[in-house]
Amino acid sequence: MSLSSEVAKRRTFAIISHPDAGKTTLTERLLLSGGAIQMAGNVKARKSGRHATSDWMELEKQRGISVTSSVMQFEYGGKMINLLDTPGHADFSEDTYRTLTAVDSALMVIDIAKGVEERTIKLMDVCRLRTTPIMTFVNKMDREGRDPIEVMDEVESVLDILCAPMTWPVGTGKLFRGVYRIYDDTIHLFAGRPGNDKEKDTFIDGLHSAEADAALGGYAAELRDELELVQGASNEFDLEFYLSGELTPVFFGSAINNLGIDELMENFARYAPPPQGRAAQTREVSSAEESFSGFVFKIQANMDPSHHDRIAFMRITSGHFEKGKKLRHVRLKRDMAINNASTFMASRRDQIEEAYAGDILGVHNHGTIQIGDTFTEGEELKFTGIPNFAPELFRRVRLRDPLRAKALQKGLIQLSEEGATQVFRPLNNNDMILGAVGILQFDVVAHRLKAEYNVECAFDAVPVATARWLHFPDAKMEEEFLRKNESNVARDGADSLTYVAPNMVNLQLTIERWPDVEFRKTREI
Ligand code: G4P
Repeated sequence: MSLSSEVAKRRTFAIISHPDAGKTTLTERLLLSGGAIQMAGNVKARKSGRHATSDWMELEKQRGISVTSSVMQFEYGGKMINLLDTPGHADFSEDTYRTLTAVDSALMVIDIAKGVEERTIKLMDVCRLRTTPIMTFVNKMDREGRDPIEVMDEVESVLDILCAPMTWPVGTGKLFRGVYRIYDDTIHLFAGRPGNDKEKDTFIDGLHSAEADAALGGYAAELRDELELVQGASNEFDLEFYLSGELTPVFFGSAINNLGIDELMENFARYAPPPQGRAAQTREVSSAEESFSGFVFKIQANMDPSHHDRIAFMRITSGHFEKGKKLRHVRLKRDMAINNASTFMASRRDQIEEAYAGDILGVHNHGTIQIGDTFTEGEELKFTGIPNFAPELFRRVRLRDPLRAKALQKGLIQLSEEGATQVFRPLNNNDMILGAVGILQFDVVAHRLKAEYNVECAFDAVPVATARWLHFPDAKMEEEFLRKNESNVARDGADSLTYVAPNMVNLQLTIERWPDVEFRKTREI
């Protein structure tokens, strides 16, 4: 197969959802439908450590580097699908955000009873940075939930995206018995729950057919009325609007019962975008280019102290990779022969033989690779759009042995380069403040400082609510701002000036007081 047809087959995406909406269950379903049965148990196993952080550490240690469920590749409908894991429970971290900068589309899972929840709002904000196209799956239709129309309204108003229902539930809760496929005017009635006996399912051509009356009885008229209302009040699917992130096609179903998922996947395979181009500092790189290029969006360390290796997750942006290929590590200006990249074929775990634009490579290294690094076949490229995100949780580091201060600093800088945490050093004192978006990140940092740098530390509460990266129009304003706000300014791991706000009101007031200063929520790495 030619390079261009291999690339055109790829679909690289992630699932965004609030914890418990059904992401793990849906992932298992997708893997099963892609024939990657072995993998399904693994997704669950990883999640079992989600509640207790200490259990999670144990789990990571036992499993060694837990890359298995970080990227799952499977085939569906003639497409090669890469599903990138977005840790969501206790293991929620900046990696979750950054993974969303490495996908071409996202699938949003919403619980019909809960509607739009807080985590989904945050993840959606990240998707918007690159106007990522989003499909929506409204899950748990087998349970009594809210009115589907109301939930779509909520998606539109809270997430500021138009909804185009692609399917509509035939009955809800205990009476959920099928979906009406708006896109091809077919009623799909399930033979039973769970929907594993699909050969027995019924497909009826036309909502207004006599067959529909025969199958649904009195409910047929009710369903027709409801759809008239829905279609009058919502949008039709429009491919262009979907691809530009302005409209989300919406599917209804039940992940645990395997209902409504075929419709979702069929349309995903049909409409989700193939690998997209990406901006580099000097030019835009197209996924159709033959020459290899890729960027690192995540680093995973081995939690086992006897193995100091790390895996860098590299999204291939263009070209083709085969084992042993020499790649240019642009930041280090060094060529590296990559012999030990991992594959993520969900049913196997071999060493990678070949990979194409859209695929993810797992490259073993000992700390030579950082988040944001670009690899090429020689060109001096630097991809953009792999940022740091403003942390939401902060802790002051307290060193148990003051003589280890140097080792602490070295450890924290390396860990921040790997994206495990962010470090802020206030201008007016010698504190080290760690920032994170997920609480477990602090435990991971403490664990790794001890295991890898022999530094024991504790964390204290610190009155910082959020951080924003500062950009000044000129040096004079910078000087004046720093003079008046010294106690709330810090330097991050890359020495960038950051406003560390004690609370959101303070941030708001400062922004209003300094209209010419930019307060950014992300910083390019
Ligand atoms: P998450 O990864 O988004 O956090 O969610 P997960 O798939 O673990 O699902 C959260 C809970 O919701 C699980 O129940 C799961 O079984 C249930 N669930 C998922 N899809 C459906 C559905 O379509 N209908 C119904 N009724 N429930 C669904 P749990 O009791 O928390 O976990 P478990 O003991 O079943 O593992």
